[in-house]
Amino acid sequence: METGLSILSSDFSRMGAEIKKYGRSLDFIHMDVMDGSFVPNLTFGPPVIDSLRKITKLPFEAHLMVVNPEKQWKWYRKSCGRIIFHIEALRSPMALIKEMKGVKKGIALNPPAPAEKIEKWLPHIETAFIMSVAPGFSGQKFDPAILKKIAKLRKTIDAKKLKCRICVDGGINLETAALCRRAGADAIVASSYLSSGNILQKLAGLKALR
Ligand code: DX5
Ligand code: ZN
Repeated sequence: METGLSILSSDFSRMGAEIKKYGRSLDFIHMDVMDGSFVPNLTFGPPVIDSLRKITKLPFEAHLMVVNPEKQWKWYRKSCGRIIFHIEALRSPMALIKEMKGVKKGIALNPPAPAEKIEKWLPHIETAFIMSVAPGFSGQKFDPAILKKIAKLRKTIDAKKLKCRICVDGGINLETAALCRRAGADAIVASSYLSSGNILQKLAGLKALR
């Protein structure tokens, strides 16, 4: 299974070293951008991500947990090949989807949002990004209710022969990743699970899920 590391649980004073450590065992690095308004937490922005960009060739994606993604997305396109914004932050995403040229586009859905909220946009985006915790913090418990949403989206994507991938973020470990995979997800993002123990072994387990 395609696996991304969120650096939210890492030691921020050693971020560069943490990213370098896992090298090719990862498929991408997930950057949790929080503005203290859309979510009750504040992380980092373009200067930090641009610095990290210099130390690895791994793809970066920006997960924008901000109130105004339509203003801020451009700040991230230099370093992040994929930019994910929340549907909850916009009244209609079409203008932003049209404007976001030259990057892969993802729409994130919070746990309470039904699949219908994103279905209409699936032909226009690269990633349906399913939150399995309320955004804001790492280390929360996976909400199994989102598995039905994944299965529903998988059905729609396959029936319409769309190219959109499904990625799940929040409370991911080997067990919850396997549930997501079985429900039809293509990719996962993990943070706290990958911050202790034998991380290379954990990554190998996640990657082996089929
Ligand atoms: C939560 C973030 C997640 C978070 C995941 O708002 O979007 O990416 O870092 O952390 P874990 O894997 O610990 O739930
Ligand atoms: Zn995230």
